[in-house]
Amino acid sequence: MAILKIARMGHPILMSPAHEVADPTDPAVHQLIDDMVETMIDAPGLGLAAPQVHVPARIVIFRVPEGERSKDAVPLTVLINPVIEILTDAIEDGVEGCLSLPKMSGMVPRHRRIYYRATAPDGSSIEREAEGFHARVVQHECDHLDGVLYPMRMRDLSLFGYEEELVKEGCEPE
Ligand code: NI
Repeated sequence: MAILKIARMGHPILMSPAHEVADPTDPAVHQLIDDMVETMIDAPGLGLAAPQVHVPARIVIFRVPEGERSKDAVPLTVLINPVIEILTDAIEDGVEGCLSLPKMSGMVPRHRRIYYRATAPDGSSIEREAEGFHARVVQHECDHLDGVLYPMRMRDLSLFGYEEELVKEGCEPE
C-alpha cells in the first residue's frame, strides 16, 4: 500500500478522458485501488478518481458518511468503468470540494437522481439508484473520468473560492 501523489487542477491528466479498464480483476488494478483507498483516507476525502493519482483509467472510489448532507451512509464503493443514467431533469445546487483543488469549494448544479452501473473489483456488477448527496458524489467522481472538474460545471463563479473565506461570508449553506 502506498499514499499516491494527487494531481491538482492545471495538470493535463485531469483534463483528458480516461481509458476503459480491460480486466477489473487484474491484480495490478487491485493494487491501484488499494493505494487509492489509502490516499483518499489519508487526504482525507470522500472520493477519488484514478486520473487524480495520474492513472488514466476509468476507476473511482467514494464513500458517503451519514450526516447533515446525507440521510443514508454509503460504504466505501469502488466503481470500475462506471456508466451514469440521469433519472430526472431536476437539478440541485450544492457545495463541492475536490482533492485536486485543495482548500477551495464551489456551488455546483447536479442531477438530483441518477442510476449507475459499474463493475466491482471482483468482476461482479454494481447497479444502484442514487439521489441527493450520493448522486452528487458519483457525478463528481465520474466527471473526473471525462476530464471535467467541478468549476467547469458551475453557473456562478462568484460562488467559487477558498473554503475559509466562503464560510466567513456565509456562502456555505451545508
Ligand atoms: Ni474531485
